[in-house]
Amino acid sequence: MKGKEIFVIRGGNPLYGKVVVHGAKNAVLPMLAASVLTADKVSICDCPLISDVDDMVRVLETLGVTVERKGREISVSGSPKMTEIPSHLACAMRSSVFMLGALLSETGEVRLFAPGGCRIGARPLDIHFDGLTRLGAKVEYGEDFVQCTADKLKGADIVLKYPSVGATENLIMASVKARGTTRLIGAAREPEICSLVRLLRKMGADVSGEGTPVITVRGVDDLDGASCIPVTDRIVAGTVMAAVAVCGGRVEIVGGDADIMGAVISPFLTSHTFLVEHGGVIVFESDKMLLPTDVSTGPYPLFPTDMQAPFMACQCYACGLSSMRETVFEDRFAHVGELRKMGADIALAGNTAFVDGSRGMHGANLCASDLRGGAGLLVAALGADGESTLEGVRYIDRGYENIEEIFALLGGKIARQRT
Ligand code: UD1
Repeated sequence: MKGKEIFVIRGGNPLYGKVVVHGAKNAVLPMLAASVLTADKVSICDCPLISDVDDMVRVLETLGVTVERKGREISVSGSPKMTEIPSHLACAMRSSVFMLGALLSETGEVRLFAPGGCRIGARPLDIHFDGLTRLGAKVEYGEDFVQCTADKLKGADIVLKYPSVGATENLIMASVKARGTTRLIGAAREPEICSLVRLLRKMGADVSGEGTPVITVRGVDDLDGASCIPVTDRIVAGTVMAAVAVCGGRVEIVGGDADIMGAVISPFLTSHTFLVEHGGVIVFESDKMLLPTDVSTGPYPLFPTDMQAPFMACQCYACGLSSMRETVFEDRFAHVGELRKMGADIALAGNTAFVDGSRGMHGANLCASDLRGGAGLLVAALGADGESTLEGVRYIDRGYENIEEIFALLGGKIARQRT
């Protein structure tokens, strides 16, 4: 019988060497969704080899388009023949929600079953559906699905009540071939959205203002094939920094893009680690003498919620009282209970965790229940005294490519085992 995979981690070893960071998961997924906006070939280069990308490819294949994979390059061609995201895929993967805008634009109807992904907070989709309604779609709710239909989408001014990343991406994709002009007011500004827009522009779309709170989309009749490289993964780069911070050492992060990592880098610098960037390489160094920090997550350009757990792992090793306020998602502290098993002194008050790092951390049997929380536990275990085991490897595999190889090559003692 097939057992489950765990990581076995012996902590306390410094990390030295080089890591190459590839395209960002959160850029590649919407870019793949955008590929159905034309029957021509759309190629996305430097894709990470992670299970979320595999799942997105499965969604596309199920919709009836042709997908070719050559190493890290994924090419999509043909027109979708289905308009329903099958429930087993939609339930496993929240990113299937990105298909909404593109599929609706292309086929005039889409049916999406309750989407899955990490279990963090309520994760509603009201901003997506309100926006699609403003573009002229009819949205109907079944027991476990939502159906959107539209003869022809029409441009509109849409005010987003919160800068949702996914809703911004969906509404851009829904409006690129709509009649007239759409303005997204209060749009999200994440660099991954800029990658999506870069691809759409190469395909012939007329989009401007990405990276600012107002994005303007002038509808065009048709889009062509194109090839595009996504921005690199700032969360993978940040997770490597977190591990080096707690283990000590010096690592070159090739492909680390300091221009989009200001908010990720800033608390590390306050925490007494050292960093230089030259020619697309970030050199990150730590002597393990971490200082306490007060961090609050927020939409870009603020500190990313996806770095909250990996950075909290660092706060567990800082000499004094730190705080971490989570403002983006409710209920994103599942890792706190597991960190406490390692000896972490963490008090929760509403959306803020107060972390006293003066106690020291030891190995424990840990269980990840979401992607970034799992990455945080892995970082904490790499720095701890003694051995840890970490269950829930499948969550971490959603967003990190062979994470155990990355850290083993740097000198960390980590192995994937089947129980
Ligand atoms: C994306 C990222 C995810 C990241 C998150 C926030 C991808 C594939 N995933 O997720 O890694 O953690 O951005 O940076 O890019 N909300 C609503 N109504 C909506 C939509 C969102 O209330 O219709 C709320 C959410 O519940 C959450 C907040 O807005 O509290 C942010 O969500 P959103 O920006 O939409 O995150 P995702 O796009 O799902």
